[in-house]
Amino acid sequence: MPCPLCDDTGWKPVEEQGVRRVVRCACWREQVGQTRLADSNIPKRYQHCTLANFRAYNESLQHALEAATLLTERFPTASTREQLGRGLFLDGAPGVGKTHLAVAVLKAIVEKSAARALFYDTRDLLRVIRSTYDPSIRTTELEVLRPVMTADLLVLDDLGAEKTSEWVEETMNLIVNTRYNERRLTIFTSNYLDIPDDTDPNSLLFRIGFRMRSRLHEMCEFIEMDGADYRELPVNGGVDDLITLWKMRKKSTLPSPRGRQARAQLREPAARDGKADLRWPGGRAGS
Ligand SMILES: Nc1ncnc2c1ncn2[C@@H]1O[C@H](COP(=O)(O)OP(=O)(O)OP(=O)(O)O)[C@@H](O)[C@H]1O
Ligand SMILES: [Mg+2]
Ligand SMILES: [Zn+2]
Repeated sequence: MPCPLCDDTGWKPVEEQGVRRVVRCACWREQVGQTRLADSNIPKRYQHCTLANFRAYNESLQHALEAATLLTERFPTASTREQLGRGLFLDGAPGVGKTHLAVAVLKAIVEKSAARALFYDTRDLLRVIRSTYDPSIRTTELEVLRPVMTADLLVLDDLGAEKTSEWVEETMNLIVNTRYNERRLTIFTSNYLDIPDDTDPNSLLFRIGFRMRSRLHEMCEFIEMDGADYRELPVNGGVDDLITLWKMRKKSTLPSPRGRQARAQLREPAARDGKADLRWPGGRAGS
């Protein structure tokens, strides 16, 4: 049966203040949204992730969920060209749900607005770019980069997992800069600590460099997620188990006074001489 609103044309007439025009019909958004979701490269393992099934059992996770929900609501339905505000940088230890939340936002936005969205593990993306690299073509003209730079929403998962080299830095800067200039929304996740120490291999700064970090701070809201490693939750485990696991994790990894000091200095960028030895518990140190 054809759509009663648009007769399957995808456009439906509306009248506003005596002016008649056509707008995209909801049936079009739904159909195109499904296709675009299928094209968005979400790994199988994360296809179940939604905002609704994210368990926010402490303040930090509630804050992350609220920011993710707000971003989704703010994403315009009609035009993705409007100013969107900032993206998100989800930071935290393994298994706290960073990728889950990033995927949940992507799905919600595509379902709502049929936006063109892409998910990429950062290392996979670099591998793909490298494999198609041709010295006779400038990086800016690489065909594989086009969708990454032009997607309405890009999720770059596990930023910093690949140690910076000149080539990596240049490529990542190009992607991030282009998206930044075009005001396109990007969500990053990372295991690496945002501490002001570029000599600590566990710091974001060490992994991605000063220029990139400064761009990221401009284009994203940084959100630190603190919680249990969800992967340790027994099948049928509940919120109480998560809280227990989280508390155990906190106890085993109390930040050292120096680590805390270094983090505090982040809020006062003038003081930059602090050294930190705080690690995310079980992080992929030096990988
Ligand atoms: N708060 C949560 N509520 C519901 N499911 C969660 C939550 N946190 C994590 N999960 C689930 O646990 C698994 C691991 O989470 P996820 O991969 O998002 O963690 P991560 O923070 O990205 O870890 P890593 O740093 O190792 O990449 C996923 O299947 C995810 O759906
Ligand atoms: Mg992850
Ligand atoms: Zn319709």
